Amino acid sequence: MCGIFGYVGARNAIDIVIEGLRRLEYRGYDSAGLAGVQENQIVFSKEVGKISVLEREVRKQTFQVPAAIAQTRWATHGKATQVNAHPHFDKERSLALVHNGIIENHDDLRRGLKDQGVSFVSETDTEVVAHLIAYHYDGDLLGAIQQAVAQLKGAYAVALVHRDFPDQIIAIAHEAPLVIGIGNHEAFLSSDPRAFAFYTRQAIYLSNSEIAIIKAETQHVYSTHASIDKEYCLLEQEFGEPSKGEFEHYTLKEIYEQPQTIRNALASRFVVEYGTAIFEELTFEDRDLLSVERVLILACGTSWHAGCIAAYMLGELAHISAQVEISSEFRYKNPLIPPGTLVIAISQSGETADTIAAIREVKAKGARVLGVCNVQGSTLVREADETLFLKAGPEIGVCSTKAFTSQVVVLSLFTLLMARMRHMNKTEGQEILEELLHLPEQVQTVLDQASYIAEIARKYVDYESFFFLGRRYMYPTCLEGALKLKEMSYINANGYAAGEVKHGPLALIGEQCPVVALCADRITYGKLLGNLMEIKARHGKILAIASQKDRHLEEIVDDVIYVPVSRDELAVIPVTVVTQLLAYNIAQLRGMDIDHPRHLAKSVTVE
Ligand code: AGP
Repeated sequence: MCGIFGYVGARNAIDIVIEGLRRLEYRGYDSAGLAGVQENQIVFSKEVGKISVLEREVRKQTFQVPAAIAQTRWATHGKATQVNAHPHFDKERSLALVHNGIIENHDDLRRGLKDQGVSFVSETDTEVVAHLIAYHYDGDLLGAIQQAVAQLKGAYAVALVHRDFPDQIIAIAHEAPLVIGIGNHEAFLSSDPRAFAFYTRQAIYLSNSEIAIIKAETQHVYSTHASIDKEYCLLEQEFGEPSKGEFEHYTLKEIYEQPQTIRNALASRFVVEYGTAIFEELTFEDRDLLSVERVLILACGTSWHAGCIAAYMLGELAHISAQVEISSEFRYKNPLIPPGTLVIAISQSGETADTIAAIREVKAKGARVLGVCNVQGSTLVREADETLFLKAGPEIGVCSTKAFTSQVVVLSLFTLLMARMRHMNKTEGQEILEELLHLPEQVQTVLDQASYIAEIARKYVDYESFFFLGRRYMYPTCLEGALKLKEMSYINANGYAAGEVKHGPLALIGEQCPVVALCADRITYGKLLGNLMEIKARHGKILAIASQKDRHLEEIVDDVIYVPVSRDELAVIPVTVVTQLLAYNIAQLRGMDIDHPRHLAKSVTVE
């Protein structure tokens, strides 16, 4: 999942695309490059490393181009080398192109082109597209591209410049996000419209197998065989230019934003008088919601963890059977979707390819899809029947933090709505609401312990493997805590249901593998203490995160961090903020690139 940006117009195209890339760096950052046409020659620069490396090299050159394309890479085919970095070219270097996605039949096409005498310089699937277009080119660039697109399989977003057409860029999109921005006598192209929203809010979303010829004054869209009339839409006035403020990392800033982002997620979505929740953006009829007999939740990564918690809540509080599935597994199942099934697709970015594919599968089976998302205009929002927004603001840090807690809050409100429409009485509804409304201050109480948590982190910084153990709602919370430690500090951390440990993982317990015990689930507290005794008996080191002060617990464990008491369903949130800070501090002490962990990217738009 790479980031593509393009510009054509009177401004300095090189400056604009470098700035655009910087806003897309969350999508991949192992190498970057750009290209344009100068005096009918392709000029370009590409470097391994962050965009700052590319910028430094570009500043040594004097590029003057009316149009430019650029890409920041997350390698799928071929290591992060200068040769494999984008752009890629044909033999005569008549064109340069950048790509996001995967050309699934690149091997077959490469073989066919080699038979035609074409030689390849890189290991990428992308280079095939450059040679294929050049192979079909006879002066009619659109025709050549239409022929090439007809041969491509996979997901791809491509931007291209050709030396015969210096003042235009060509965009090609198929199952990968690509958006045109229409400015005043200028035009932009981006994988994410927020990267040009600073300049214009008029956008054209390209969809499957569409090709666009983009000039400063005109933007024409075609299919593989005809011209298409495309409406432009206005981007939501979202948020200003993201900045770290006084924080060293976006990730830390986003952790500290959570009291406010939780308030945003709650704002005008509850009625205390009736002990229920309301969603103005939800236009499902009450009878539609009442006819829901089962919920199928689809998501990946951290969003899947939020889905696991929602499944618990829907079952226990709304008495609706809920099943949660990892999208990348689910998309290859032939699922049964009986009538009365509501599908909830959770995705912070709204662009995760596996989740998009999974919802297309259930829609093909006639299911209704409710999205839970943080990005207006994203593919999930455009393809779901309805979407509940997190209102958490842009999440720049690759490791999801504030989006997770907002996902749990929005899903808690949705569960409350469904429960109140069924058996739950007003009083219980009001009790849950009251606890939800306490969350921002509870999270603030945890943030106020940041220096103590940093102290604890120093004690655990040198361990190379961890177990996170918990029961019921604390189990998916363990999965999330372990994922944050993995992502931020590259430590091998595993989340596990505490009751499962003696069925194998106990073999790994010892002085070199500490346990982070999440003890805030009151129903299973006693059982968990039993598990911790088993760990202690095997010289395991234990850091507990608990909500009730307990001398007995303190005798068993080595360290304890207390969080404010909350309902078991909601204790997930203050406990998670502790695990976020723990992961952050350990990563900080280890000198990690916390906002851009190696090998990862913010939205996974490839399979
Ligand atoms: C979380 O920290 C990770 N970045 C990753 O697991 C992420 O949650 C996953 O890729 C899903 O992303 P989405 O919510 O945008 O679909």
